[in-house]
Amino acid sequence: MANRPILHYALEAVVAAGITDVGMVVGDTAAEIEAACGDGRAFGCRITYIRQPAPLGLAHAVQTARPFLGDAPFLMYLGDNLLKGGVTELVQAFRAADWDAAILLTPVPHPEQFGVAVVEGGRVVRLVEKPRVPPSNLALVGVYLFRPSVHAAIATLTPSWRGELEITDALQRLIDAGRTVHAETVTGWWKDTGRPEDVLEANRLVLEDLVPRVAGTVDAASRLDGRVVVEAGARIVRSTVRGPAIIGPDALVEDSFVGPFTSLGPRVVVRETEIEHSVVMADTVLEAVPGRLDGCLLGRGVRVARRRDAPRAFRLVLGDQSHVEVL
Ligand code: G1P
Repeated sequence: MANRPILHYALEAVVAAGITDVGMVVGDTAAEIEAACGDGRAFGCRITYIRQPAPLGLAHAVQTARPFLGDAPFLMYLGDNLLKGGVTELVQAFRAADWDAAILLTPVPHPEQFGVAVVEGGRVVRLVEKPRVPPSNLALVGVYLFRPSVHAAIATLTPSWRGELEITDALQRLIDAGRTVHAETVTGWWKDTGRPEDVLEANRLVLEDLVPRVAGTVDAASRLDGRVVVEAGARIVRSTVRGPAIIGPDALVEDSFVGPFTSLGPRVVVRETEIEHSVVMADTVLEAVPGRLDGCLLGRGVRVARRRDAPRAFRLVLGDQSHVEVL
């Protein structure tokens, strides 16, 4: 998202809310996550990595983190959730209140893919995880605040139909025990559900807040319109870049047009090509592509180029699960 992993935005939101002691529950991808976040110093926090032996659910993750958490109140933030407004307000409200838990809700078109809440008179009365027939369109956003009473609720859980200890069920236990679960509704929320459109949407959400900055070079024959970031070492030559857009470090844009909501990763080369509303990852090369690339998601080290010699035919070398649309 604008050339950074989604998890970085989560960490920034947590630190902005004044939380600097971070336990990161990790599984099979521990090494990649540690490489991306380190000890947390770059974000102004201290990260303790907590290994969850198997992905047995969010409530199980809390159980696994119990030695780290002790009896402190805590924020649980799911690292694949992006929240435009951050979590500062909710954390402040939680600190000042005596709620046992606080959650965020947002209306969604497909509530059956999420935890769903029923709210009556401003109070959460029922929560269900991925209901086949959703009782409302209010999805649980992946941000939760808890006091230590949640641990006793988790201790009573049994695995759900998907074999997980569900945090949604723990919240329901709190409600059943007459505890207060406070809910607020937010907009500007996104969660990856695995489709390319979702990644483009998240990238758009992040680019909307882009603060323009030019650390690379832009020649006299080029134009930057609107909010554009040109990272160090990047070069814009005889081209137009229309923001919001980010051109990664050491990238080259030459005789090209880069349109709104585009992120070009490090060392990407765009030559004699028009592209907009796209995410292009590191080391990819786009050369003399006819027409305009729009809504593209291109991985690392990809090469898209016009074939100059005969036969005038498409020649595709694509990895697993690739998706190409041709004219
Ligand atoms: C989890 C929660 C669900 C919540 C969602 C938000 O779902 O179980 O209640 O709505 O996160 O991201 P999962 O990612 O496990 O499918």
